[in-house]
Amino acid sequence: MKRKFLGSVVALALAAPVYAGEMLSDAQIIGIYSQVNSFDIETALLGELKGHSDDVRAIGSMVSGDHSGVRQAIHQLASEMGVQPVLPPARIEAAQDHDTVIMQLRGLEGAAFDAAYLRHEIAFHTAAIQAVEGLLIPEAEDPRLRAHFQAVLPAFYHHLEVNQKAAGTLGVSVD
Ligand SMILES: [Fe+2]
Repeated sequence: MKRKFLGSVVALALAAPVYAGEMLSDAQIIGIYSQVNSFDIETALLGELKGHSDDVRAIGSMVSGDHSGVRQAIHQLASEMGVQPVLPPARIEAAQDHDTVIMQLRGLEGAAFDAAYLRHEIAFHTAAIQAVEGLLIPEAEDPRLRAHFQAVLPAFYHHLEVNQKAAGTLGVSVD
């Protein structure tokens, strides 16, 4: 039940049905992307802090560091592009969903925390990769923005893989 809920929250956080039929500006793309990076920085910091296994703490540390770097890079690029990031009001819902995820994770301990964390991170990165490949790259107007997404994709795939590997090692079922 909780697992399904976490998964659906991730889908809501990243899928873009609210933008169907509506082109995203580069300012909106950067705003949404920065928000989503911030979500995962907070989640990964929680993994680093509360992880029961060495694997989860190490993954949390790496992922929070990587996404902090990405967030810094995208704000620098926005500045170079002369773009002020814009967060569409519809993204308030995504922020509320993220808060729910964090509160749920904070309520878990030990192996239960690790399992929920890994399931969330696998679903999150799967959705993030789909959003970058299927929405953000196609809709980005500035080639520097598209180049940024192409450059970070391997790290996102790497995050997905290390979370999947840890889930396998710790016997966490993922579906
Ligand atoms: Fe990531």
